[in-house]
Amino acid sequence: MIRSSIAAALLLSLEGAKALTLPDNVGRLPALGWNSWNAFGCDVSETKLMTAANEIVSTGLKDLGYEYVNIDDCWSVKGGRDNVTDRIIPDSEKFPSGINGTAQKIHNLGLKIGIYSSAGTETCAGYPASIGHESLDAQTFADWGIDYLKYDNCYVPSNWTDEYTACTADSDFPGVNPNGTCPGLQNPAPAGYDWSKSNTAKRYNIMRDALAAVEDQQVILFSMCEWGQADVVSWGNGTGNSWRMSGDINATWPRITAIANLNAHELSSVDFWGHNDPDMLEVGNGNLTIEENRAHFALWAIMKSPLIIGTALDSLPETHLEILKNADLVAFNQDPVHGKPAYPYKAGYSNGTWDPVHPPEYWSGSTSYGWNLVLLFNSEDVNATRTASWSEVPQLKQQQRHAHKTQRGYQVEDIWTGKDLGCVKDQYSVDLQPHDVAVLKIKGKC
Ligand SMILES: *[C@@H]1O[C@H](CO)[C@@H](O)[C@H](O)[C@H]1NC(C)=O
Ligand SMILES: *[C@@H]1O[C@H](CO)[C@@H](O)[C@H](O)[C@H]1NC(C)=O
Ligand SMILES: *[C@@H]1O[C@H](CO)[C@@H](O)[C@H](O)[C@H]1NC(C)=O
Ligand SMILES: *[C@@H]1O[C@H](CO)[C@@H](O)[C@H](O)[C@H]1NC(C)=O
Ligand SMILES: *[C@@H]1O[C@H](CO)[C@@H](O)[C@H](O)[C@H]1NC(C)=O
Ligand SMILES: *[C@@H]1O[C@H](CO)[C@@H](O)[C@H](O)[C@H]1NC(C)=O
Ligand SMILES: *[C@@H]1O[C@H](CO)[C@@H](O)[C@H](O)[C@H]1NC(C)=O
Ligand SMILES: *[C@@H]1O[C@H](CO)[C@@H](O)[C@H](O)[C@H]1NC(C)=O
Ligand SMILES: *[C@@H]1O[C@H](CO)[C@@H](O)[C@H](O)[C@H]1NC(C)=O
Repeated sequence: MIRSSIAAALLLSLEGAKALTLPDNVGRLPALGWNSWNAFGCDVSETKLMTAANEIVSTGLKDLGYEYVNIDDCWSVKGGRDNVTDRIIPDSEKFPSGINGTAQKIHNLGLKIGIYSSAGTETCAGYPASIGHESLDAQTFADWGIDYLKYDNCYVPSNWTDEYTACTADSDFPGVNPNGTCPGLQNPAPAGYDWSKSNTAKRYNIMRDALAAVEDQQVILFSMCEWGQADVVSWGNGTGNSWRMSGDINATWPRITAIANLNAHELSSVDFWGHNDPDMLEVGNGNLTIEENRAHFALWAIMKSPLIIGTALDSLPETHLEILKNADLVAFNQDPVHGKPAYPYKAGYSNGTWDPVHPPEYWSGSTSYGWNLVLLFNSEDVNATRTASWSEVPQLKQQQRHAHKTQRGYQVEDIWTGKDLGCVKDQYSVDLQPHDVAVLKIKGKC
Protein backbone atom coordinates (compact mmCIF):
# COMPACT_ATOMS: atom_id res chain seq x y z
CA MET A 1 0.00 0.00 0.00
CA ILE A 2 2.76 2.39 0.92
CA ARG A 3 4.64 1.44 -2.19
CA SER A 4 1.61 1.81 -4.42
CA SER A 5 0.86 5.26 -3.05
CA ILE A 6 4.41 6.36 -3.75
CA ALA A 7 4.11 5.00 -7.27
CA ALA A 8 0.85 6.87 -7.72
CA ALA A 9 2.43 10.08 -6.43
CA LEU A 10 5.25 9.75 -8.93
CA LEU A 11 2.80 9.07 -11.73
CA LEU A 12 0.84 12.15 -10.77
CA SER A 13 3.90 14.36 -10.89
CA LEU A 14 4.99 12.87 -14.20
CA GLU A 15 1.59 13.67 -15.63
CA GLY A 16 2.11 17.25 -14.50
CA ALA A 17 -1.07 17.28 -12.47
CA LYS A 18 -2.65 20.63 -11.83
CA ALA A 19 -0.97 21.76 -8.66
CA LEU A 20 -2.39 24.29 -6.30
CA THR A 21 -0.10 27.22 -6.86
CA LEU A 22 -1.24 30.50 -5.34
CA PRO A 23 -0.27 34.13 -5.93
CA ASP A 24 2.59 35.69 -3.92
CA ASN A 25 4.15 32.23 -3.36
CA VAL A 26 1.54 31.48 -0.68
CA GLY A 27 1.78 27.77 0.12
CA ARG A 28 5.00 27.18 -1.80
CA LEU A 29 6.94 26.46 1.40
CA PRO A 30 5.64 24.70 4.52
CA ALA A 31 3.43 27.00 6.58
CA LEU A 32 4.89 28.39 9.82
CA GLY A 33 2.59 29.47 12.59
CA TRP A 34 0.46 28.69 15.61
CA ASN A 35 -2.92 27.01 16.14
CA SER A 36 -5.20 26.97 19.17
CA TRP A 37 -6.16 23.28 19.27
CA ASN A 38 -3.28 21.39 20.89
CA ALA A 39 -3.08 23.94 23.68
CA PHE A 40 -6.72 24.87 24.24
CA GLY A 41 -9.02 22.48 22.37
CA CYS A 42 -12.49 23.97 22.08
CA ASP A 43 -11.64 26.79 24.48
CA VAL A 44 -10.66 29.29 21.80
CA SER A 45 -11.09 33.07 21.92
CA GLU A 46 -9.89 36.37 20.57
CA THR A 47 -7.95 36.88 23.81
CA LYS A 48 -6.06 33.62 23.39
CA LEU A 49 -5.40 34.33 19.73
CA MET A 50 -4.09 37.83 20.43
CA THR A 51 -1.91 36.51 23.27
CA ALA A 52 -0.38 34.04 20.83
CA ALA A 53 0.02 36.70 18.16
CA ASN A 54 1.71 39.14 20.53
CA GLU A 55 4.02 36.40 21.81
CA ILE A 56 4.97 35.45 18.25
CA VAL A 57 6.11 39.02 17.77
CA SER A 58 7.79 39.59 21.15
CA THR A 59 9.65 36.26 21.29
CA GLY A 60 11.17 36.77 17.86
CA LEU A 61 9.28 33.86 16.29
CA LYS A 62 7.86 36.29 13.73
CA ASP A 63 11.35 37.32 12.68
CA LEU A 64 12.08 33.66 11.92
CA GLY A 65 9.05 33.46 9.63
CA TYR A 66 6.28 32.16 11.87
CA GLU A 67 3.30 34.06 10.49
CA TYR A 68 -0.03 32.22 10.65
CA VAL A 69 -2.14 32.53 13.80
CA ASN A 70 -4.87 29.97 13.38
CA ILE A 71 -8.24 29.48 15.00
CA ASP A 72 -9.21 25.82 15.23
CA ASP A 73 -12.67 24.37 15.98
CA CYS A 74 -15.39 26.02 18.13
CA TRP A 75 -15.25 29.64 16.94
CA SER A 76 -18.86 29.94 15.76
CA VAL A 77 -22.41 29.77 17.07
CA LYS A 78 -23.51 26.17 17.38
CA GLY A 79 -26.81 24.99 15.97
CA GLY A 80 -27.25 26.94 12.79
CA ARG A 81 -26.29 29.56 10.29
CA ASP A 82 -27.64 33.06 9.93
CA ASN A 83 -31.24 32.52 8.87
CA VAL A 84 -31.11 35.40 6.39
CA THR A 85 -27.60 35.26 4.87
CA ASP A 86 -26.95 31.55 5.55
CA ARG A 87 -23.45 32.50 6.73
CA ILE A 88 -21.72 30.90 9.72
CA ILE A 89 -22.08 33.22 12.73
CA PRO A 90 -18.97 33.94 14.82
CA ASP A 91 -19.40 33.46 18.56
CA SER A 92 -19.48 37.07 19.76
CA GLU A 93 -18.61 36.14 23.33
CA LYS A 94 -15.44 34.35 22.29
CA PHE A 95 -14.67 36.88 19.54
CA PRO A 96 -16.08 40.25 20.65
CA SER A 97 -14.42 42.03 17.70
CA GLY A 98 -15.81 39.49 15.26
CA ILE A 99 -13.53 37.27 13.23
CA ASN A 100 -13.02 40.23 10.91
CA GLY A 101 -11.99 42.47 13.81
CA THR A 102 -9.62 39.82 15.15
CA ALA A 103 -8.20 39.43 11.65
CA GLN A 104 -7.57 43.14 11.45
CA LYS A 105 -5.69 43.14 14.77
CA ILE A 106 -3.58 40.21 13.66
CA HIS A 107 -2.85 41.84 10.33
CA ASN A 108 -1.85 45.00 12.17
CA LEU A 109 0.91 42.96 13.81
CA GLY A 110 2.16 41.94 10.39
CA LEU A 111 0.83 38.40 10.84
CA LYS A 112 -1.79 36.31 9.07
CA ILE A 113 -4.90 34.60 10.38
CA GLY A 114 -6.27 31.11 9.79
CA ILE A 115 -9.70 29.62 10.33
CA TYR A 116 -11.18 26.13 10.49
CA SER A 117 -14.07 24.23 8.94
CA SER A 118 -14.91 20.68 7.88
CA ALA A 119 -15.83 19.01 4.59
CA GLY A 120 -18.93 17.68 6.30
CA THR A 121 -22.20 18.86 7.81
CA GLU A 122 -20.62 19.71 11.17
CA THR A 123 -17.13 20.33 12.49
CA CYS A 124 -15.62 17.65 14.70
CA ALA A 125 -16.93 19.47 17.78
CA GLY A 126 -20.40 19.83 16.22
CA TYR A 127 -20.37 23.40 14.89
CA PRO A 128 -21.68 24.41 11.43
CA ALA A 129 -19.39 23.19 8.65
CA SER A 130 -19.01 23.72 4.95
CA ILE A 131 -20.22 20.84 2.78
CA GLY A 132 -22.84 22.25 0.42
CA HIS A 133 -21.87 25.79 1.49
CA GLU A 134 -18.33 25.91 0.13
CA SER A 135 -18.73 29.02 -2.06
CA LEU A 136 -20.53 31.03 0.57
CA ASP A 137 -18.06 30.03 3.30
CA ALA A 138 -15.04 30.80 1.10
CA GLN A 139 -16.60 34.20 0.36
CA THR A 140 -17.25 34.78 4.06
CA PHE A 141 -13.67 33.87 4.99
CA ALA A 142 -12.39 36.17 2.24
CA ASP A 143 -14.63 39.01 3.45
CA TRP A 144 -13.17 38.61 6.94
CA GLY A 145 -9.60 38.72 5.62
CA ILE A 146 -8.77 35.07 6.38
CA ASP A 147 -5.40 33.84 5.04
CA TYR A 148 -5.46 30.10 5.80
CA LEU A 149 -8.14 27.41 5.98
CA LYS A 150 -7.71 24.16 7.89
CA TYR A 151 -10.38 21.90 6.45
CA ASP A 152 -11.29 18.89 8.59
CA ASN A 153 -13.05 15.63 7.72
CA CYS A 154 -15.86 15.17 10.28
CA TYR A 155 -19.54 14.45 9.66
CA VAL A 156 -19.29 13.35 6.06
CA PRO A 157 -22.85 12.80 4.73
CA SER A 158 -23.61 9.18 3.79
CA ASN A 159 -23.90 9.97 0.07
CA TRP A 160 -20.36 11.39 0.13
CA THR A 161 -18.49 8.42 1.56
CA ASP A 162 -15.87 6.72 -0.60
CA GLU A 163 -16.61 3.68 -2.72
CA TYR A 164 -13.50 1.94 -1.35
CA THR A 165 -11.31 2.16 1.71
CA ALA A 166 -7.60 2.92 1.40
CA CYS A 167 -5.01 1.55 3.76
CA THR A 168 -3.98 4.54 5.86
CA ALA A 169 -0.90 2.88 7.26
CA ASP A 170 -1.25 4.71 10.56
CA SER A 171 -1.02 2.57 13.67
CA ASP A 172 -4.11 4.50 14.74
CA PHE A 173 -6.06 3.06 11.81
CA PRO A 174 -8.04 -0.15 12.38
CA GLY A 175 -6.41 -3.31 11.07
CA VAL A 176 -2.93 -1.99 10.30
CA ASN A 177 -0.25 -4.66 10.49
CA PRO A 178 3.02 -4.17 12.31
CA ASN A 179 4.63 -3.91 8.87
CA GLY A 180 2.33 -1.10 7.77
CA THR A 181 0.08 -3.08 5.47
CA CYS A 182 -3.67 -3.56 5.97
CA PRO A 183 -4.34 -7.19 5.12
CA GLY A 184 -7.77 -7.25 6.75
CA LEU A 185 -8.95 -4.12 4.98
CA GLN A 186 -12.68 -4.24 4.26
CA ASN A 187 -13.57 -3.16 0.76
CA PRO A 188 -10.12 -2.39 -0.70
CA ALA A 189 -9.87 -0.59 -4.02
CA PRO A 190 -9.05 -2.57 -7.15
CA ALA A 191 -5.40 -2.43 -8.21
CA GLY A 192 -4.56 0.83 -9.96
CA TYR A 193 -7.60 2.66 -8.60
CA ASP A 194 -7.21 6.41 -9.02
CA TRP A 195 -7.92 7.94 -5.62
CA SER A 196 -8.09 11.44 -7.11
CA LYS A 197 -11.53 10.31 -8.37
CA SER A 198 -12.73 9.42 -4.87
CA ASN A 199 -15.48 11.33 -3.09
CA THR A 200 -12.93 12.47 -0.52
CA ALA A 201 -10.88 14.12 -3.27
CA LYS A 202 -14.05 15.63 -4.71
CA ARG A 203 -15.13 17.08 -1.36
CA TYR A 204 -11.76 18.80 -0.99
CA ASN A 205 -11.64 19.88 -4.63
CA ILE A 206 -14.94 21.71 -4.23
CA MET A 207 -13.42 23.82 -1.47
CA ARG A 208 -10.20 24.28 -3.46
CA ASP A 209 -12.29 25.70 -6.32
CA ALA A 210 -14.33 27.88 -3.96
CA LEU A 211 -11.12 29.36 -2.55
CA ALA A 212 -9.76 29.87 -6.07
CA ALA A 213 -12.92 31.78 -6.94
CA VAL A 214 -12.22 34.38 -4.21
CA GLU A 215 -8.48 34.51 -4.83
CA ASP A 216 -8.55 37.98 -6.42
CA GLN A 217 -10.04 39.29 -3.19
CA GLN A 218 -8.10 37.19 -0.71
CA VAL A 219 -5.41 34.50 -1.10
CA ILE A 220 -6.20 31.62 1.28
CA LEU A 221 -3.74 28.77 1.90
CA PHE A 222 -5.59 25.43 1.79
CA SER A 223 -4.60 23.03 4.58
CA MET A 224 -6.38 19.70 4.14
CA CYS A 225 -7.08 17.73 7.30
CA GLU A 226 -8.37 14.44 5.89
CA TRP A 227 -6.27 12.29 8.26
CA GLY A 228 -4.27 10.62 5.49
CA GLN A 229 -7.33 8.84 4.16
CA ALA A 230 -8.18 8.07 0.53
CA ASP A 231 -4.48 7.82 -0.33
CA VAL A 232 -4.21 11.60 -0.22
CA VAL A 233 -0.45 11.57 -0.82
CA SER A 234 -1.20 10.50 -4.41
CA TRP A 235 -3.47 13.47 -5.21
CA GLY A 236 -3.04 16.10 -2.49
CA ASN A 237 -0.62 18.18 -4.56
CA GLY A 238 -3.40 18.95 -7.02
CA THR A 239 -5.83 19.98 -4.31
CA GLY A 240 -4.22 21.65 -1.33
CA ASN A 241 -0.99 23.16 -0.06
CA SER A 242 -0.69 20.56 2.68
CA TRP A 243 -2.49 17.41 3.65
CA ARG A 244 -2.56 15.45 6.86
CA MET A 245 -1.04 12.01 6.32
CA SER A 246 -2.13 10.47 9.63
CA GLY A 247 -4.70 10.57 12.37
CA ASP A 248 -4.33 13.14 15.14
CA ILE A 249 -1.12 13.71 17.02
CA ASN A 250 -1.05 13.95 20.78
CA ALA A 251 1.62 14.90 23.30
CA THR A 252 2.83 11.35 23.89
CA TRP A 253 6.07 9.89 22.62
CA PRO A 254 4.53 6.72 21.07
CA ARG A 255 2.18 8.85 18.97
CA ILE A 256 5.00 11.09 17.78
CA THR A 257 7.17 8.13 16.72
CA ALA A 258 4.24 6.39 15.00
CA ILE A 259 3.53 9.47 12.87
CA ALA A 260 7.25 10.05 12.17
CA ASN A 261 7.60 6.44 11.03
CA LEU A 262 4.63 6.70 8.70
CA ASN A 263 5.68 10.03 7.22
CA ALA A 264 9.26 8.80 6.74
CA HIS A 265 7.82 6.27 4.30
CA GLU A 266 5.73 8.81 2.36
CA LEU A 267 8.15 11.64 1.69
CA SER A 268 8.16 11.35 -2.10
CA SER A 269 4.99 13.47 -2.15
CA VAL A 270 6.78 16.43 -0.51
CA ASP A 271 8.13 19.26 -2.65
CA PHE A 272 7.33 22.91 -3.36
CA TRP A 273 3.63 23.82 -3.13
CA GLY A 274 2.49 20.57 -1.52
CA HIS A 275 3.53 19.16 1.86
CA ASN A 276 2.64 16.14 3.92
CA ASP A 277 1.29 17.34 7.26
CA PRO A 278 2.19 15.06 10.18
CA ASP A 279 -0.03 17.33 12.32
CA MET A 280 0.67 20.30 14.54
CA LEU A 281 3.56 20.51 16.97
CA GLU A 282 3.29 19.31 20.55
CA VAL A 283 6.48 21.07 21.65
CA GLY A 284 5.76 22.40 25.14
CA ASN A 285 2.83 20.05 25.80
CA GLY A 286 2.28 16.94 27.91
CA ASN A 287 5.15 15.20 29.64
CA LEU A 288 7.57 15.01 26.78
CA THR A 289 11.18 15.24 27.88
CA ILE A 290 13.34 18.04 26.52
CA GLU A 291 15.04 15.44 24.30
CA GLU A 292 11.66 14.31 22.97
CA ASN A 293 10.63 17.91 22.29
CA ARG A 294 13.87 18.44 20.41
CA ALA A 295 13.57 15.24 18.35
CA HIS A 296 9.92 15.94 17.52
CA PHE A 297 10.68 19.45 16.27
CA ALA A 298 13.79 18.45 14.34
CA LEU A 299 12.08 15.55 12.58
CA TRP A 300 9.07 17.68 11.65
CA ALA A 301 11.33 20.45 10.38
CA ILE A 302 13.52 18.23 8.21
CA MET A 303 10.53 16.35 6.75
CA LYS A 304 9.46 19.83 5.51
CA SER A 305 6.23 19.65 7.46
CA PRO A 306 4.14 22.70 8.21
CA LEU A 307 5.47 23.88 11.59
CA ILE A 308 2.35 24.94 13.45
CA ILE A 309 3.08 25.57 17.12
CA GLY A 310 0.38 24.16 19.41
CA THR A 311 1.26 25.39 22.87
CA ALA A 312 0.52 28.36 25.15
CA LEU A 313 3.38 30.65 24.20
CA ASP A 314 2.98 32.95 27.21
CA SER A 315 3.91 30.12 29.59
CA LEU A 316 6.38 28.25 27.41
CA PRO A 317 9.75 27.77 29.12
CA GLU A 318 12.75 29.36 27.42
CA THR A 319 14.27 25.90 26.86
CA HIS A 320 11.32 24.94 24.67
CA LEU A 321 11.08 28.31 22.93
CA GLU A 322 14.71 27.92 21.90
CA ILE A 323 13.80 24.65 20.15
CA LEU A 324 11.08 26.37 18.10
CA LYS A 325 13.51 29.19 17.36
CA ASN A 326 16.29 27.04 15.94
CA ALA A 327 17.22 29.19 12.96
CA ASP A 328 19.05 26.45 11.07
CA LEU A 329 16.18 23.97 11.28
CA VAL A 330 13.68 26.64 10.26
CA ALA A 331 16.00 27.59 7.38
CA PHE A 332 16.22 23.97 6.27
CA ASN A 333 12.42 23.72 6.39
CA GLN A 334 12.01 26.97 4.43
CA ASP A 335 14.74 26.55 1.80
CA PRO A 336 13.58 28.72 -1.13
CA VAL A 337 15.62 26.80 -3.72
CA HIS A 338 15.63 23.20 -2.54
CA GLY A 339 12.07 21.87 -2.14
CA LYS A 340 12.67 18.26 -1.13
CA PRO A 341 12.81 17.12 2.47
CA ALA A 342 15.58 15.20 4.21
CA TYR A 343 15.31 11.43 3.78
CA PRO A 344 16.41 8.49 5.88
CA TYR A 345 19.64 7.12 4.40
CA LYS A 346 19.86 4.16 6.78
CA ALA A 347 17.18 2.85 9.09
CA GLY A 348 19.09 2.24 12.29
CA TYR A 349 17.54 0.36 15.17
CA SER A 350 14.88 -1.31 13.05
CA ASN A 351 17.02 -2.21 10.06
CA GLY A 352 14.66 -0.68 7.54
CA THR A 353 11.48 -2.40 8.60
CA TRP A 354 8.26 -0.60 9.34
CA ASP A 355 8.39 0.31 13.02
CA PRO A 356 6.06 2.82 14.70
CA VAL A 357 8.22 2.67 17.87
CA HIS A 358 11.58 3.07 16.15
CA PRO A 359 11.36 5.34 13.10
CA PRO A 360 14.42 5.71 10.88
CA GLU A 361 17.39 7.08 12.82
CA TYR A 362 19.82 8.27 10.13
CA TRP A 363 18.71 11.18 7.95
CA SER A 364 20.34 13.57 5.51
CA GLY A 365 19.23 16.48 3.35
CA SER A 366 20.58 19.09 0.98
CA THR A 367 20.24 22.84 1.26
CA SER A 368 20.95 25.81 -0.95
CA TYR A 369 23.00 27.42 1.83
CA GLY A 370 26.30 25.66 1.21
CA TRP A 371 25.80 22.98 3.84
CA ASN A 372 24.15 19.58 4.07
CA LEU A 373 22.22 18.35 7.05
CA VAL A 374 22.68 15.09 8.91
CA LEU A 375 20.39 14.01 11.73
CA LEU A 376 21.14 11.15 14.12
CA PHE A 377 18.32 9.89 16.29
CA ASN A 378 18.28 7.56 19.27
CA SER A 379 14.82 5.93 19.27
CA GLU A 380 15.78 3.62 22.12
CA ASP A 381 14.75 4.05 25.76
CA VAL A 382 18.38 3.94 26.88
CA ASN A 383 21.49 6.00 26.13
CA ALA A 384 23.05 4.95 22.85
CA THR A 385 25.74 5.99 20.42
CA ARG A 386 24.95 6.92 16.83
CA THR A 387 27.57 7.38 14.15
CA ALA A 388 27.37 9.20 10.85
CA SER A 389 29.93 7.82 8.40
CA TRP A 390 30.57 10.30 5.61
CA SER A 391 30.88 7.39 3.17
CA GLU A 392 27.24 6.44 3.88
CA VAL A 393 25.65 9.87 3.57
CA PRO A 394 24.26 10.26 0.03
CA GLN A 395 25.20 13.95 -0.19
CA LEU A 396 28.78 13.23 0.86
CA LYS A 397 29.75 9.76 -0.23
CA GLN A 398 30.73 10.54 -3.81
CA GLN A 399 33.07 13.28 -2.70
CA GLN A 400 34.29 11.17 0.18
CA ARG A 401 35.14 8.23 -2.05
CA HIS A 402 37.33 10.42 -4.22
CA ALA A 403 38.86 12.39 -1.42
CA HIS A 404 42.57 12.43 -0.98
CA LYS A 405 43.88 11.09 2.36
CA THR A 406 44.42 14.64 3.53
CA GLN A 407 40.86 15.63 2.62
CA ARG A 408 38.78 13.02 4.43
CA GLY A 409 37.04 15.45 6.69
CA TYR A 410 34.22 17.97 6.78
CA GLN A 411 33.78 21.09 8.81
CA VAL A 412 30.90 20.23 11.14
CA GLU A 413 28.70 22.39 13.33
CA ASP A 414 26.21 21.27 15.97
CA ILE A 415 22.83 22.76 15.11
CA TRP A 416 21.58 22.89 18.72
CA THR A 417 24.59 24.57 20.32
CA GLY A 418 25.98 26.34 17.27
CA LYS A 419 29.30 24.88 18.38
CA ASP A 420 31.97 24.37 15.73
CA LEU A 421 33.02 20.73 15.96
CA GLY A 422 36.02 21.38 13.78
CA CYS A 423 37.31 19.23 10.95
CA VAL A 424 35.76 15.81 11.48
CA LYS A 425 37.48 12.98 9.60
CA ASP A 426 35.50 10.04 8.16
CA GLN A 427 32.74 9.87 10.73
CA TYR A 428 31.09 11.54 13.67
CA SER A 429 29.93 9.60 16.72
CA VAL A 430 27.69 11.00 19.40
CA ASP A 431 26.28 9.64 22.66
CA LEU A 432 22.59 10.36 22.75
CA GLN A 433 20.18 10.20 25.64
CA PRO A 434 16.90 8.31 25.13
CA HIS A 435 14.80 9.83 22.30
CA ASP A 436 17.30 12.59 21.55
CA VAL A 437 18.65 13.78 18.20
CA ALA A 438 21.94 15.27 17.10
CA VAL A 439 21.61 17.55 14.09
CA LEU A 440 24.72 18.51 12.14
CA LYS A 441 25.55 21.15 9.58
CA ILE A 442 28.09 19.56 7.26
CA LYS A 443 30.07 22.35 5.62
CA GLY A 444 33.15 22.40 3.39
CA LYS A 445 35.71 19.64 3.04
CA CYS A 446 38.88 19.80 5.09
C1 LIG B 1 -33.72 34.38 12.56
O1 LIG B 1 -32.73 34.61 13.56
C2 LIG B 1 -33.04 35.69 14.40
C3 LIG B 1 -31.82 35.97 15.27
O2 LIG B 1 -31.27 34.79 15.77
C4 LIG B 1 -34.30 35.34 15.20
O3 LIG B 1 -34.61 36.41 16.05
C5 LIG B 1 -35.44 35.09 14.24
O4 LIG B 1 -36.58 34.65 14.91
C6 LIG B 1 -35.06 34.05 13.21
N1 LIG B 1 -36.09 33.98 12.18
C7 LIG B 1 -36.60 32.85 11.75
C8 LIG B 1 -37.61 32.95 10.68
O5 LIG B 1 -36.24 31.76 12.21
C1 LIG C 1 -16.76 43.37 10.96
O1 LIG C 1 -18.02 43.08 10.39
C2 LIG C 1 -19.09 43.75 11.06
C3 LIG C 1 -20.40 43.21 10.51
O2 LIG C 1 -20.39 43.25 9.12
C4 LIG C 1 -18.93 45.25 10.88
O3 LIG C 1 -19.96 45.91 11.58
C5 LIG C 1 -17.59 45.65 11.44
O4 LIG C 1 -17.35 47.02 11.18
C6 LIG C 1 -16.46 44.84 10.83
N1 LIG C 1 -15.22 45.12 11.56
C7 LIG C 1 -14.08 45.38 10.93
C8 LIG C 1 -12.90 45.62 11.81
O5 LIG C 1 -13.97 45.39 9.72
C1 LIG D 1 -25.02 14.24 -1.85
O1 LIG D 1 -26.23 14.94 -1.70
C2 LIG D 1 -26.15 16.38 -1.86
C3 LIG D 1 -27.48 16.99 -1.52
O2 LIG D 1 -28.47 16.42 -2.27
C4 LIG D 1 -25.70 16.67 -3.29
O3 LIG D 1 -25.55 18.06 -3.47
C5 LIG D 1 -24.38 15.98 -3.54
O4 LIG D 1 -23.97 16.16 -4.89
C6 LIG D 1 -24.46 14.50 -3.25
N1 LIG D 1 -23.12 13.92 -3.32
C7 LIG D 1 -22.76 13.03 -4.25
C8 LIG D 1 -21.36 12.52 -4.20
O5 LIG D 1 -23.52 12.64 -5.10
C1 LIG E 1 -2.61 9.36 21.75
O1 LIG E 1 -2.96 8.74 20.53
C2 LIG E 1 -2.97 7.32 20.59
C3 LIG E 1 -3.27 6.82 19.19
O2 LIG E 1 -4.43 7.39 18.71
C4 LIG E 1 -4.00 6.86 21.59
O3 LIG E 1 -3.99 5.46 21.69
C5 LIG E 1 -3.66 7.46 22.96
O4 LIG E 1 -4.65 7.11 23.87
C6 LIG E 1 -3.56 8.96 22.86
N1 LIG E 1 -3.09 9.49 24.12
C7 LIG E 1 -3.55 10.61 24.63
C8 LIG E 1 -2.97 11.03 25.94
O5 LIG E 1 -4.38 11.30 24.07
C1 LIG F 1 3.20 -7.84 6.14
O1 LIG F 1 2.76 -8.80 7.07
C2 LIG F 1 1.75 -9.66 6.56
C3 LIG F 1 1.21 -10.56 7.68
O2 LIG F 1 2.11 -10.64 8.73
C4 LIG F 1 2.32 -10.45 5.40
O3 LIG F 1 1.32 -11.27 4.85
C5 LIG F 1 2.78 -9.48 4.31
O4 LIG F 1 3.42 -10.18 3.27
C6 LIG F 1 3.78 -8.47 4.88
N1 LIG F 1 4.03 -7.47 3.86
C7 LIG F 1 5.22 -6.94 3.64
C8 LIG F 1 5.31 -5.92 2.54
O5 LIG F 1 6.19 -7.25 4.28
C1 LIG G 1 3.64 19.65 -6.59
O1 LIG G 1 3.31 20.62 -7.54
C2 LIG G 1 4.28 21.66 -7.66
C3 LIG G 1 3.77 22.72 -8.59
O2 LIG G 1 3.48 22.21 -9.83
C4 LIG G 1 5.58 21.06 -8.14
O3 LIG G 1 6.56 22.06 -8.16
C5 LIG G 1 6.01 19.96 -7.18
O4 LIG G 1 7.17 19.33 -7.64
C6 LIG G 1 4.90 18.94 -7.01
N1 LIG G 1 5.29 17.97 -5.99
C7 LIG G 1 5.62 16.71 -6.28
C8 LIG G 1 6.03 15.85 -5.14
O5 LIG G 1 5.61 16.28 -7.41
C1 LIG H 1 1.75 13.60 32.62
O1 LIG H 1 2.12 12.89 33.80
C2 LIG H 1 1.18 12.98 34.84
C3 LIG H 1 1.78 12.36 36.07
O2 LIG H 1 2.44 11.18 35.76
C4 LIG H 1 -0.11 12.32 34.39
O3 LIG H 1 -1.08 12.41 35.39
C5 LIG H 1 -0.63 13.01 33.11
O4 LIG H 1 -1.75 12.33 32.63
C6 LIG H 1 0.44 13.03 32.06
N1 LIG H 1 -0.03 13.85 30.96
C7 LIG H 1 0.04 13.46 29.69
C8 LIG H 1 -0.51 14.41 28.68
O5 LIG H 1 0.52 12.40 29.35
C1 LIG I 1 19.20 -5.15 13.18
O1 LIG I 1 20.26 -5.89 12.60
C2 LIG I 1 21.28 -6.25 13.52
C3 LIG I 1 22.41 -6.90 12.75
O2 LIG I 1 21.91 -7.78 11.81
C4 LIG I 1 20.67 -7.20 14.58
O3 LIG I 1 21.64 -7.52 15.53
C5 LIG I 1 19.54 -6.45 15.28
O4 LIG I 1 18.89 -7.32 16.17
C6 LIG I 1 18.51 -5.95 14.29
N1 LIG I 1 17.56 -5.11 14.98
C7 LIG I 1 16.24 -5.28 14.87
C8 LIG I 1 15.39 -4.37 15.70
O5 LIG I 1 15.75 -6.10 14.14
C1 LIG J 1 22.86 8.73 29.92
O1 LIG J 1 23.61 9.87 29.53
C2 LIG J 1 23.46 10.98 30.42
C3 LIG J 1 24.14 12.19 29.83
O2 LIG J 1 25.33 11.85 29.22
C4 LIG J 1 24.05 10.59 31.78
O3 LIG J 1 23.88 11.66 32.68
C5 LIG J 1 23.32 9.37 32.29
O4 LIG J 1 23.90 8.92 33.48
C6 LIG J 1 23.34 8.24 31.28
N1 LIG J 1 22.47 7.17 31.73
C7 LIG J 1 22.86 5.91 31.77
C8 LIG J 1 21.86 4.92 32.25
O5 LIG J 1 23.97 5.57 31.45
